[in-house]
Amino acid sequence: MAREFKSVGVVGLGTMGAGIVEVFARNGVDVVAVEVNEPALERGRAVLTGSTDRAVARGKLSEADRGALLDRVRFATGLTELRDVDLVIEAVPEHLDLKQAIFAELDKVCKPEAVLATNTSSLSVTEISVATSRPNQVIGMHFFNPAPVMKLVEIVRTVVTADDVVADIEALCARLGKVDVTINDRAGFIANALLFGYLNHAVQMFESRYATREDIDAAMRLGCGLPMGPLALMDLIGLDTAYEILDTMYRRGGRDRRHAPVPLIKQMVTAGLLGRKSGRGFYTYEKPGSPVVV
Ligand code: 3HC
Repeated sequence: MAREFKSVGVVGLGTMGAGIVEVFARNGVDVVAVEVNEPALERGRAVLTGSTDRAVARGKLSEADRGALLDRVRFATGLTELRDVDLVIEAVPEHLDLKQAIFAELDKVCKPEAVLATNTSSLSVTEISVATSRPNQVIGMHFFNPAPVMKLVEIVRTVVTADDVVADIEALCARLGKVDVTINDRAGFIANALLFGYLNHAVQMFESRYATREDIDAAMRLGCGLPMGPLALMDLIGLDTAYEILDTMYRRGGRDRRHAPVPLIKQMVTAGLLGRKSGRGFYTYEKPGSPVVV
């Protein structure tokens, strides 16, 4: 019988995790949202309230519906709070050791039939799955930023993911109003494998002073019809996340030089210029998280 996924857990409430919480809560699913400590939990809560406030201000969500949405989310600081959920989606930073430690813990805490999913964008789902005693119930669910808006979910199956788990997650994505593509476990899957060489190239073009940030972004927006230029998109993704993805793809993907992170990215990360989330990246934002380019 197909799984219903009545309640889900989301581990890690950064940009992606908080967006994923919103996707589920908007679609009537109860969510337990987990972070490591209170300040991190507060940051996640602020992303969720900011996003739902904006939806109310734009007339896309009624006050009552927002109240119901927020009531579906329970915030917690321990993985043990996930003992009763049907599905967990992990969305912590892109470090294999960290993800494996979390999956090993989830395996102990969660009920035996629960499905464990990772939102990893570049690490091996297979390597994450073997940290558990149930690799057949581990799967990749890769959302795109901003998760409440972008339609796609890449579903990543490993060589041992059970067919019924894949089918149930595909059905869940449809219930969430998403379109899925199901693929095998390769670095960057489809979208990031194609996207990140381009983003890296744009940073290199900017670093070499061939063109200004505005001209690079205008060329791709107005010349190629993309919703955002590559440097604005780097700011949206977060330069720290982009660096981790490029570095992992470079190492996992046969050291293809298209994915060798341009040095400027690492320098900006070290200097705290992470993009929208820190208030400054290639552009400066009025306040952290703000979409307004100053
Ligand atoms: N959270 C929630 N909703 C958001 C949002 C956010 N951070 N940012 C924008 N929105 C919503 C707005 O509320 C608005 O909703 P509405 O239509 O219901 O009123 C809608 O999105 C459009 O927003 P705006 O009118 O403010 O702005 P735009 O029309 O310029 O759209 C955008 C903003 C959706 C971000 C658009 O520019 C876009 O599609 N950009 C490209 C994003 C992209 O390529 N994402 C993929 C990145 S790669 C990735 O995520 C992989 C990962 O592994 C790194």
